[in-house]
Amino acid sequence: MKALITGVTGQDGYYLSQFLHQKGYDVYGLVRRTAQPAEIPEWVKPISGDVTDPAVANIVMDVRPDEIYHLAAMSFVWESFKVPKATFDINAVGTLNMLEGARRLGCKFYQASTSELYGATPPPQNEYSKFHPRSPYGVAKLAAYWLTVNYREAYDLYACNGILFNHESPRRGKEFVTRKVCDYVARLKEAKRLQMAGRISAINPPSLKLGNLDAVRDWGHAWDYVRGLWLMMRQDTPDDYGLATGEGRTIRDLLETAFGSIGEKWEDYVETDISLYRPTEVHSLIGDPRKIERLGWTREYTFEAMIEEMIDAA
Ligand code: GDD
Repeated sequence: MKALITGVTGQDGYYLSQFLHQKGYDVYGLVRRTAQPAEIPEWVKPISGDVTDPAVANIVMDVRPDEIYHLAAMSFVWESFKVPKATFDINAVGTLNMLEGARRLGCKFYQASTSELYGATPPPQNEYSKFHPRSPYGVAKLAAYWLTVNYREAYDLYACNGILFNHESPRRGKEFVTRKVCDYVARLKEAKRLQMAGRISAINPPSLKLGNLDAVRDWGHAWDYVRGLWLMMRQDTPDDYGLATGEGRTIRDLLETAFGSIGEKWEDYVETDISLYRPTEVHSLIGDPRKIERLGWTREYTFEAMIEEMIDAA
């Protein structure tokens, strides 16, 4: 089997490519030319291309994958308010270009959809909940969702949307809140160790600046979720599935867990910074994973184990 992954240099691209490689797939990764070359997993065969260019459909025809996993996106919600047009080009038009390739070749297609589609709709959210995105990111991803459904219905394409709630790991980008908190706690842990060893006399780190601490998120581990993607692509008929833990936590809960794991109180270190708030916030996302669980999906990581892994790896 041959898979083509877009966004292969991101967190999910790393875990998914590893998983497919372990399953015996020939894994190709679409890689964009950038000033600073990105790190490509050693088991991936890189193919140069850009999802915003319609010519990417020709690349699909050349590689001839059995399955496309389209993960490439501008994925930082806060940033999408600063660059709405670029976000739309990458997340919506990029998906259209990749779908055209899949349609012409007739291969299976996975689209990385998101719980950000639900936005203002209160939890628990599942595959039948109303969409009400609250950012240019969410709106562009909603277009990508419907394009995928439309190609499935219009051209009988095996196309799935995986509606993923937040998923983290040591490979999470530094701009996201879990990684930001875990990196800070890891540095604090190291400073405490040095102080215990008598190598430094005092710990005076700059404060950790965060935005809205009341937001609720459903955080799972990326490694658990990539198995769900693969499962969706193995069914008799294509469909859309949510991937979530079903557990909601506030940013304060995250801080309690992370700082608590090294015996510290987060209140002593955290400062609120209004510039990190979003013009429209998504207050609460808690998913209902029962549909994907019916395919046999389960998760291995607890929230606490994931946070511990992220602190240890930082
Ligand atoms: N990034 C960030 N930085 N978020 C903060 C901060 C901060 O300093 N302080 C508070 N937050 C709050 C945000 O306002 C948001 O409510 C929550 O923490 C999570 O923010 P992120 O980690 O940036 O993730 P996200 O929920 O906006 O989006 C992620 O999950 C989506 C799935 O629901 C991204 O991975 C998206 O690409 C993905 O679609």
